[in-house]
Amino acid sequence: MSTPHNPLGDRQISRKSLLKAAALAGAVPVLIGGGTALARDTAAAGGTSVPLTPDCHDGDAPTDAQIEGPYFKPGSPLRTNLVTPGTQGTPLTVSGYVFGRNCAPISGALLDFWQADTNGNYDNSGYTFRGHQFSDANGAYTLTTIIPGLYPGRTRHIHVKVQAPGQSILTTQLYFPNEPRNATDSIFDPKLVMTVRQVGNGSQASFDFVLNVNGTPKPSSSPTGNSPSPSPSSSPGGTTTWQVGTSYKAGDQVTYNGVTYVCIQAHTAFAGWEPPNVPALWSRR
Ligand SMILES: [Fe+2]
Repeated sequence: MSTPHNPLGDRQISRKSLLKAAALAGAVPVLIGGGTALARDTAAAGGTSVPLTPDCHDGDAPTDAQIEGPYFKPGSPLRTNLVTPGTQGTPLTVSGYVFGRNCAPISGALLDFWQADTNGNYDNSGYTFRGHQFSDANGAYTLTTIIPGLYPGRTRHIHVKVQAPGQSILTTQLYFPNEPRNATDSIFDPKLVMTVRQVGNGSQASFDFVLNVNGTPKPSSSPTGNSPSPSPSSSPGGTTTWQVGTSYKAGDQVTYNGVTYVCIQAHTAFAGWEPPNVPALWSRR
């Protein structure tokens, strides 16, 4: 990964490189909050300095898959922060973007992280240091955690499963630079090393995932989207039929295949996130 000297002045720059450059420059909050640093958004707002749909010149291959290992547990909590009161360890944030092979960011991608605690132990009875989240409208994610401890036979790593809506799951692991055990761990993959910098008493890491899909369209909440507004059928009890593109809030009730579900977490519905498939978002009533 490299940082372009002057990304906005380079006609060959891709949207992905622009995002990477902005992330490395610490401009992620600006990207997320205002969006004006993005090539496509700048063009949409009337800017003329970059193409509307920049070509992808990075040629990145999909992120390497890795073994799941013995400690994955399904059903992790929906949360971006794995740190709880009393958590021991060095603070760490991991952030980045989820892209398709066409360099388009993938919103609504499911990222399920699990890792060891600072002493190298996994919580196999509960969900400490386990959590899943969804990439935001810009394809961005952020995980707040601690630096995982070492355990016998492995170098330092974080496990993750990443899935674009309705697509296959990428299972992989993220690594830290300058770890002595990287040289002796047969599972270690240098292409999965995060960019890590020290900030205060903690570390900030970044890593972009590239999934072997062609990206996904933005949710229909886009103000310029061509899709008509969803108009789910309603019943007298306030329960609607689950429908792609609808924004649900906690407490909403839907029916799907004749079964009633209650929304647990506000989200926009994607194909692939049908209520039976995402217990973190819907519970049976
Ligand atoms: Fe592990």
